[in-house]
Amino acid sequence: MPRTKKKTTSKKPMMMGERKLGRVLITGASAGIGAELAREFASHGHSLVLVARSKDKLDALAGELNAAHDTDAVVIAQDLAESDGAANVVAHLPKHGIEIDILVNNAGVIDVGPFADVEAETYQHMIALNIASLTAFTSLLLPPMIDRRFGRILNVASLAGFQPIPSMAVYAATKAYVLSLTEALSEELRGTGVKVTALCPGLTDTNMVAGIKAKSDTAKWTPSLLISDPKSVAKQAYKATMSGRTILVPGLPNQLAAAWAQVNPRWVVRTVTGFATRQADWMKGK
Ligand SMILES: NC(=O)c1ccc[n+]([C@@H]2O[C@H](COP(=O)([O-])OP(=O)(O)OC[C@H]3O[C@@H](n4cnc5c(N)ncnc54)[C@H](OP(=O)(O)O)[C@@H]3O)[C@@H](O)[C@H]2O)c1
Repeated sequence: MPRTKKKTTSKKPMMMGERKLGRVLITGASAGIGAELAREFASHGHSLVLVARSKDKLDALAGELNAAHDTDAVVIAQDLAESDGAANVVAHLPKHGIEIDILVNNAGVIDVGPFADVEAETYQHMIALNIASLTAFTSLLLPPMIDRRFGRILNVASLAGFQPIPSMAVYAATKAYVLSLTEALSEELRGTGVKVTALCPGLTDTNMVAGIKAKSDTAKWTPSLLISDPKSVAKQAYKATMSGRTILVPGLPNQLAAAWAQVNPRWVVRTVTGFATRQADWMKGK
């Protein structure tokens, strides 16, 4: 099939100096790492578009940021697991006269347990959000960034993206996709003015981890030293995004784990993660 160049709305190329700070669109901004990223971008003076399903939480966050930083955060409530979720959001932007300079693909969900025990629908939903929506946003918002010769994309992957993880096999595979896509694009986009960053946090103190802890004694035993503060993760992610770094793994223990997974043969890595995860109570039907 012949490839057609995507039409974009940009009329003239924008030089980096013309616009002091970029407008940022953050998915999954109503809680956790996404909300902290919104606070971090706002504190540096960026305008924001906040996207998630919970309109009440987004409105509260927009009010907080507008008051604290004199920004003009716009809220768009949308279920991004819907097949046209990303397109619906992007279709709203011209109505507000908004061009996006920085895309933060953060929204994501997890499920843990033996693969065969989880409903097929749960996996479809996870793939729709963690992979399809992130890809659609990137595909829709990247061409105008290239035309303007400036843009940043922050994709929230995970430490889980560096190796297969039995008991969260689909989640880890979605994050391996995000990491691989980011690395490929960062090379493909060399010289365009657009940079792509993969944020690969380890365990971070958000509702996602609280949800796993609520169901599992194994997770409750996780030493607090191994659980990162979302504010600190967001601060590091902001710097990495603006400087155009390709991969950020926040925190020394997570950096060591990522390095370990990359220097060992694949069979060693999967055997060790297989042994470790078989000890977890969620694999023993508890
Ligand atoms: N926490 C960790 O330990 C950890 C580690 C590595 C990577 N990550 C990644 O970090 C990202 C953020 O996770 P988090 O820990 O901050 O989780 P969180 O606190 O559960 O927040 C998830 C965010 O995603 C939004 N979201 C969920 N389903 C959505 C949907 N269908 N449509 C639109 N928005 C949706 C939620 O908002 P609504 O519910 O309002 O829609 C919320 O704003 C995820 O990609 C996750 O995989 C987290």
